[in-house]
Amino acid sequence: MRLTQARKDQYRKLAKQKGYRSRAAFKLLQLNKSYKIIKKSDRVVEFGCAPGGWIQVVSQLVGQSGFVLGLDLKDISPLPGTKFIKGSIEDPQLPQILLQTIGPGDKFDVVLSDMSPNVSGIWEIDHERQISLTKHALHASNKILESGGNAVYKIFQGASTQSFMDELVEQFTLVKLSKPPASRQESSELYVVCLGFKE
Ligand SMILES: C[S@@+](CC[C@H](N)C(=O)[O-])C[C@H]1O[C@@H](n2cnc3c(N)ncnc32)[C@H](O)[C@@H]1O
Repeated sequence: MRLTQARKDQYRKLAKQKGYRSRAAFKLLQLNKSYKIIKKSDRVVEFGCAPGGWIQVVSQLVGQSGFVLGLDLKDISPLPGTKFIKGSIEDPQLPQILLQTIGPGDKFDVVLSDMSPNVSGIWEIDHERQISLTKHALHASNKILESGGNAVYKIFQGASTQSFMDELVEQFTLVKLSKPPASRQESSELYVVCLGFKE
């Protein structure tokens, strides 16, 4: 068995043992351990949350005093103490809907984006489609993120990565590219960790 396959199976097994809905949960746990993105009582939204592994991790981190909201095109089985919206990041009304859901005058402390499009197998097309979704996530973030807030955006590496990073550098105090150990080495996904939103 190849090493990468063995590691994939290791995280899948661990997710089952710990009751996480996806092995992706470990990516967020590892990112949060390194960068302290989410803390107790935070108000957090995740774009592309199905089946809910990250949402489970977020719930544990923020505790009962936090607020957890997930968005996806697909339904998820309900997770106690969290809210879910079935919809698309591309809906122009979405930022308004998110702000209505969290309540009057409130904003989010953390935005997470783990979206992947349906992949065609043609790398350039998949990369552009994924970056387009993630740019929508960034534009929504600009409307819903609290000053000083944090964000994590998944990206598929490619020609438009740099222009996206340039946008992020303008809007956050610290921007770091990260590949957590739970992310398969052969996958070109990376996570951009952004701390300190400049409103
Ligand atoms: C890798 S999965 C996310 C896994 C999740 N973070 C977890 O821990 O279980 C990517 C998700 O992005 C969602 N997605 C793709 N396009 C989207 C869009 N336009 N709006 C919202 N979600 C989208 C997909 O439906 C899919 O569930």
